[in-house]
Amino acid sequence: MKFKDKVAIVTGGASGIGEYTVREMVNEGARVIIADQNDALGTALALDLNQVKQTVIYTHVDVTNELAVEQMVNLAVSEFGRLDILFNNAGVGTACPTTDLSLEDWRKVLSNNLDSVFLASKHAIRMMKKYGGGSIVNNSSILGHVGQKNAAAYSASKGAVINLTKALALEYAMENIRVNAVCPGYVDTPFIAHFDEEKRNLLISLHPLGRLGKPEEIARAVVFLSSDDASFITGTSLLVDGGYTAQ
Ligand SMILES: NC(=O)c1ccc[n+]([C@@H]2O[C@H](COP(=O)([O-])OP(=O)(O)OC[C@H]3O[C@@H](n4cnc5c(N)ncnc54)[C@H](O)[C@@H]3O)[C@@H](O)[C@H]2O)c1
Repeated sequence: MKFKDKVAIVTGGASGIGEYTVREMVNEGARVIIADQNDALGTALALDLNQVKQTVIYTHVDVTNELAVEQMVNLAVSEFGRLDILFNNAGVGTACPTTDLSLEDWRKVLSNNLDSVFLASKHAIRMMKKYGGGSIVNNSSILGHVGQKNAAAYSASKGAVINLTKALALEYAMENIRVNAVCPGYVDTPFIAHFDEEKRNLLISLHPLGRLGKPEEIARAVVFLSSDDASFITGTSLLVDGGYTAQ
């Protein structure tokens, strides 16, 4: 039980990597705030997990909205009594040649993938300081490390998340708050469900392990980075990518 008596927030926790991370954290003893915009999935997940014991609360949050994010952090403390872990996971993708990308769409991606990490970290760190420390994991991507055609906004946002992670790690190390990033390769979640067979096979071929990642494989890395097993790790970005970036 890595997370006995610990309280976590998982943004984008209703689906994909977030959902599996919530499940792993609960298995390890955490109580978790599932923060998402997908009320149907979030409510269903909470119902499922609370069958045995009240361990999670689903809350509707738009992670680009500072007031909503602050309320999300306050909810963790009012309902579960403290805050130890934040997984900044909510994010959106885009596939568009840069010459066709509107400023509005650029800002949408940056806002969902980067502003969100700033906002939730800002309010979570304020709270974690009151409880003697904590651990933040930010979901970046292989595309935070390497580029890809037609993914300028996404790559820019995820690269910035890696450097924001380092900056926050330095700023709050002395407050006993660790900040790390996880960088998944392509993972089989609703995020990539719209890809056709050809695109899917191309992506599989780009991973030396010969397959896409599974959400639970990313979740386990997040659990590791969040837990005391990673007590001397801060400011790093952990690639969980089947060898994609080793080439
Ligand atoms: N699936 C992949 O191949 C892959 C690869 C690398 C990184 N990632 C990153 O992993 C994270 C999770 O993606 P996933 O694959 O689990 O996708 P997903 O679509 O299954 O889950 C994303 C969740 O985030 C939520 N969300 C999006 N914007 C939000 C907002 N403004 N406020 C609140 N919730 C919001 C969605 O409702 C959804 O439940 C993303 O940040 C994504 O960039 C995914």
